[in-house]
Amino acid sequence: MRDEIERFFLERGCLVEEKVIEEIEKRGGLDYVIKNQNRLDFSGPIFSIDRLPAVNDFSIVKEFNINGYPGVADSFVDMFRSRYHFLHEKLNSKGSHFFLPVSKARKTEGTVFVSGMVQDYSETKNGFRILEIEDENSSMKVILPKNFKDIIIRDEVLGFSGRFSKDGEAIFAENVYHPEISKELQILDYGVKVLVVSDIHVGSKKFMRDNFLEMVDYVNSEGISFVIMNGDLVDGIGVYPDQENDLEIKDINLQYRELADLISKFGNHARIILIPGNHDIVYPMEPQNPLPPEIAALFPPNVISLSNPVWIQISGRIFLLYHGTSIFDFLESIPGSTLNDTALVMKEMIKRGHLAPEYGRNLSFIPLKTDYYLIDPVPDVLVTGHVHDHSVTSYRGILAVNGSTFQEQTGYQRMMNFNPKPAIGTVIDTSDLSYETVKF
Ligand SMILES: [Fe+2]
Repeated sequence: MRDEIERFFLERGCLVEEKVIEEIEKRGGLDYVIKNQNRLDFSGPIFSIDRLPAVNDFSIVKEFNINGYPGVADSFVDMFRSRYHFLHEKLNSKGSHFFLPVSKARKTEGTVFVSGMVQDYSETKNGFRILEIEDENSSMKVILPKNFKDIIIRDEVLGFSGRFSKDGEAIFAENVYHPEISKELQILDYGVKVLVVSDIHVGSKKFMRDNFLEMVDYVNSEGISFVIMNGDLVDGIGVYPDQENDLEIKDINLQYRELADLISKFGNHARIILIPGNHDIVYPMEPQNPLPPEIAALFPPNVISLSNPVWIQISGRIFLLYHGTSIFDFLESIPGSTLNDTALVMKEMIKRGHLAPEYGRNLSFIPLKTDYYLIDPVPDVLVTGHVHDHSVTSYRGILAVNGSTFQEQTGYQRMMNFNPKPAIGTVIDTSDLSYETVKF
């Protein structure tokens, strides 16, 4: 690739500095030069590093990292409060309606607009759904319209328009509103390629080593600048009953050593971004810290180890990486859904402006004052994994990817109705957010 880059510059009358070639390789190699040739100045005899357009191509936007065990019991109250206020403001920021908090809604004759957090819900014998909604000071009942078929998730924030019942105790809702985050796509004149994969599961007997190595070859030959590995980097130890029968490497430290060895096969031009999942060596409560320093020290310098979830910026685009434990919560609320309905789940997350509304169903949270699961800032790309599906969808201007796996179906997964779609990469071009899928 170096020769090709040199030749490209020579054909345009320029010698090119060694440093420039190194930087261009980091940005995607010849592909970068071809794409950006209109921005490059070939007028002088020597193309020096200062003539390469500057690019802030990676930064951490929001991450989670704590020492020790944080919080006190009432931190959850603060967390729910901050969630309610943020999403209440989101509903009101659209400007079309003004929603009152539950405690300010008073019985009036006409239509009233209210927002609240869903505390509980039930269904009457004749099919009406009744919600109990609340803010920090009071609660009320909302009877949903019969034609409202959308799923309801406990602890999500919704807006309603409707009329008060005669006794003023409940609202008969006519419309239901979600916070709905969105992003407007702007085409950038510079882009890099980002490969998204997930659930590598090194150490499992079912780890697909050959396919992983094919992926490494692809990254090295196609000028991929960033590889995102979205959690479950190794299979771990004792994650589910009798897991040891499924393990090829029965020591978690050795599993990470093997992962580090595999990662060292990527060329230096590619930066590898890692977040933990529920199989990794971090505590199972969320949000999860980055991998511990002694594990991170095993990896080569082009590896960036981050928290779950985390917001990062790559070449002007915000990526929100979340491993996806809450996917089960959503699926359990969607009648007839399967573990391959991840595209639908990611849409439901975007609708709610939240990655994991329900407290205490499939995942436990660390008691924190801040709600790290609010989708704020709004990303250009949302990445999940966890259920070993592969899907790509776009909703309200946000590209959403579930990142496949490099593990074939295990007996445990068969029992849990996992139907993996393994060894598929999603390659995103950050300039226009176009993507292609690649089978390894
Ligand atoms: Fe996994």
